Amino acid sequence: MKRRILSGMRPTGSLHIGHLSVLQNWVVLQDEYECYFSIVDWHALTTGYEDKLDLKALSKEIALDWLSVGIDPQKSAVFIQSQVKEHAELHLLFSMFTPMSWLERVPTYKDQIQQLGEDGKDLHTYGFLGYPLLQAADILVYKASAVPVGEDQVPHIELSREIARRFNYLYSGVFPEPQALIGKVPLLPGVDGRKMSKSYNNAISLTASTDEIGFRVKQMITDPQRIRKDDPGHPEVCVVSKFHKIYSPDIDRIERDCKAGKIGCVACKKYLAENIDKVLAPYRERRKLWQEEGKVESVLQEGTEKARATASDTMNEVRKVMGLYGSR
Ligand code: TRP
Repeated sequence: MKRRILSGMRPTGSLHIGHLSVLQNWVVLQDEYECYFSIVDWHALTTGYEDKLDLKALSKEIALDWLSVGIDPQKSAVFIQSQVKEHAELHLLFSMFTPMSWLERVPTYKDQIQQLGEDGKDLHTYGFLGYPLLQAADILVYKASAVPVGEDQVPHIELSREIARRFNYLYSGVFPEPQALIGKVPLLPGVDGRKMSKSYNNAISLTASTDEIGFRVKQMITDPQRIRKDDPGHPEVCVVSKFHKIYSPDIDRIERDCKAGKIGCVACKKYLAENIDKVLAPYRERRKLWQEEGKVESVLQEGTEKARATASDTMNEVRKVMGLYGSR
């Protein structure tokens, strides 16, 4: 039997090419594992409870992004967290035996209260303290043995392992201890050199057209000391170069020509835009197919059913070993 994977993303807005490496990694994992990919709308509420988010629209949008990059509903269950109530039930049961100190100790907890507090968000809430525990329930309700995540999520996976261990010790050995599969996420800056983010208006969207890609690449900050095209360039301070590293197989040649003043910024940018377009074009095409009326809805419906079936088996075992009534 294939090992299981669970991963999730918050539906906070349509994705940009900074998110691409994570998704491309998921696409590859689909062949090796039984995959569950969850749009974690409850998680979005843990920090965005005041924001009046249209989570339904945002969730559909992110599902479309996933499908256009190649998440394949024949292979993977794609579903919305809040449609599978077992996540909430397991979270509640876990909360009974989770020491407060374990949650307070999660490294992101105090940082985020502070950081988002500066943006005017009050995160001294029960839901925010408990969010890593909700994440543990997301993972363990599928008995996932591996969780593809970025480096920043490692403490959360560690907590999930501790929760699995504590449950197995207190009741019975129901849960495997999940492992983090840490994806290498190259940190791509936005076109202005700051962190890439939709809200800074410096991102290249996954849906960008050929023209939009060209426009964004033209905006990229290059070596400020390079004035004439045959001045020697410094790729290490150039945003364009960071993108070439990912999108251009002949990066070594480009860097050499740049340093020797043999290729000008205009030509260099044009070449990058073409290479980015080569990657995004097939995604745009696939997106059109999934955009037909009702298609995303039916993927989510099927994914939910598959997720529920697995989660409800786990919950029956959990209720039993905790001495509760079985299935409803
Ligand atoms: N906490 C993750 C984030 O903020 C999202 C997430 C929720 C998740 N549940 C998960 C990731 C389960 C992996 C597995 O990015």
